[in-house]
Amino acid sequence: RKISKVKLSENLLLDDQSTWYPTAVGLVPTMGGLHQGHLSLIENARQENSTVIVSIFVNPLQFGPNEDYSHYPRTFEQDQQICEQAGVDAIFLPTPEEMGIPEKNIQETHVTQVIPPSGMIEGLCGRYRPGHFQGVATIVTKLFNLVQPDRAYFGQKDGQQLAIIKRLVADLNLPVEIVACPTVREASGLALSSRNQYLTATEKEQATVLFKGLQKAEAAFRAGVRNSSQLIALVWEEIAQVSTISVEYIELVEPTTLMFLRKVQEEGMLAIAARLGSTRLIDNTILRDV
Ligand code: PAJ
Repeated sequence: RKISKVKLSENLLLDDQSTWYPTAVGLVPTMGGLHQGHLSLIENARQENSTVIVSIFVNPLQFGPNEDYSHYPRTFEQDQQICEQAGVDAIFLPTPEEMGIPEKNIQETHVTQVIPPSGMIEGLCGRYRPGHFQGVATIVTKLFNLVQPDRAYFGQKDGQQLAIIKRLVADLNLPVEIVACPTVREASGLALSSRNQYLTATEKEQATVLFKGLQKAEAAFRAGVRNSSQLIALVWEEIAQVSTISVEYIELVEPTTLMFLRKVQEEGMLAIAARLGSTRLIDNTILRDV
């Protein structure tokens, strides 16, 4: 489809080198509960495409049996307003039936699923959320096939998801360009997330130690520390100051392959997941020499 599209719009291309097609479609896949983080993806898509589509689908396949599928924020009216104001051309809001996915007995589903490479799902969130990235890869593949975008926009906030989707697109030769967008934070440093709605005011304040810990490690990295265990220890130290936070993992990986690093050579992703009450929070930072 992309090839015929390029041919169709050939005369409209700015020049031979240009990758900007007047007819390009940009897709921003979301699960709704839209916030400034999603909005920044939409704004990026707006700049590079003539048509912007936001999909909103709370995907049953990516929630574990004890996770928050039924409580996940569903705020469609507000999401619609946000999209309209941001100049989104269309919202794709399928039902689970329309997506061909049963809401119940998810574990026994007989639909075909896309399984990411085991090396990319063994660590980080994959270890704590079995089946999660399989559910993400499956739904994202289906969304790409249904919407057929030229570009799709993903946040660095979900660093493991981003790496897996880039790998998926390359391995399955999907004709879509993946665009990574930086993490949007509150003034306090807390990364925006639909799940922040679950936090009390006190918890929100406590949750800022995740970013503070990452910042400490960033400062040490800039000062020349390259050893993973030292960088990870700095994040632990900061987070240990809030006794109500229980850390799931703090890991340092290569951002593309997600392989564990003992030492940062060129680039590393320092990532963390922690629980605060019943809310699961994630954050990460890319360490690289500028
Ligand atoms: P959701 O959590 O709604 O996130 C949709 C997109 O917004 C993801 O690419 C995510 O990385 C990005 N995003 C979320 N918070 C962000 C922030 N603070 N800054 C920048 N980007 C942010 O991720 C999903 O949905 C789902 O797994 C999905 C890809 C839609 C598949 O179901």
